[in-house]
Amino acid sequence: MIEKVRCAEKALEYVEDGMVIGLGSGTTVKEFIKLMAEKIEKGLRVEVIPTSIDTHLLAVEHGIKVTDLMEHPEPDVCIDGADQIDREFNLIKGGGGALTREKIVAYASKKFVVIADESKLVEKLSMPVPVEILPFALGSVKKKVEGLGFRLNLREGMGKLKPVISDNGNIIADVDTGTVEEPEKLEKTLRISGVIENGIFLAEMVDAVVVGKEDGAVVLRK
Ligand code: A5P
Repeated sequence: MIEKVRCAEKALEYVEDGMVIGLGSGTTVKEFIKLMAEKIEKGLRVEVIPTSIDTHLLAVEHGIKVTDLMEHPEPDVCIDGADQIDREFNLIKGGGGALTREKIVAYASKKFVVIADESKLVEKLSMPVPVEILPFALGSVKKKVEGLGFRLNLREGMGKLKPVISDNGNIIADVDTGTVEEPEKLEKTLRISGVIENGIFLAEMVDAVVVGKEDGAVVLRK
């Protein structure tokens, strides 16, 4: 999809020689990795902190130097995709099940830049919110979520019976809350004991959204 390439190209403007970059996960980030690898071949020196095994493998495949938060607790910038972005820059992430590491790296970084094609922009967040649940706590989390009047659906994947298991060995599920009227309130509500992380990324952590269109990209700032 050309729009993903366009926003990935534009996001390269946030990358400078010598930087440590938090690398999100997903198809848009994949385009970013490919383009950054071309720059590395031409002499750019960077190290990356991947947020999933998928991104880690891609980085290695492209000859990009991988590091971690132990070595670099404060990456210079984190570049990641999103599943939905509302008008205020609140996000839903975790469509690929990588939400926990994505949130950790985004919060740890000096700057968080979201890259997305236009289809991700919405008036209000409305898709089911991905959550990562400690397997031990599944029963109590389900009861609590249902007590709140929401449905908890275990994520189904391909090539394996449900549920999808995260890179951290936990259960990925989606909480159907309907349209999200108050993202901050919902993000807090979903902080249930046993829920390791939820896929609402609040606008407070987002520095810029780079939106890819067919003929270019625009940077939206708060
Ligand atoms: C991964 O868990 C997600 O948070 C992704 O960042 C999000 O799903 C965006 O993915 P795409 O770039 O593939 O749409």
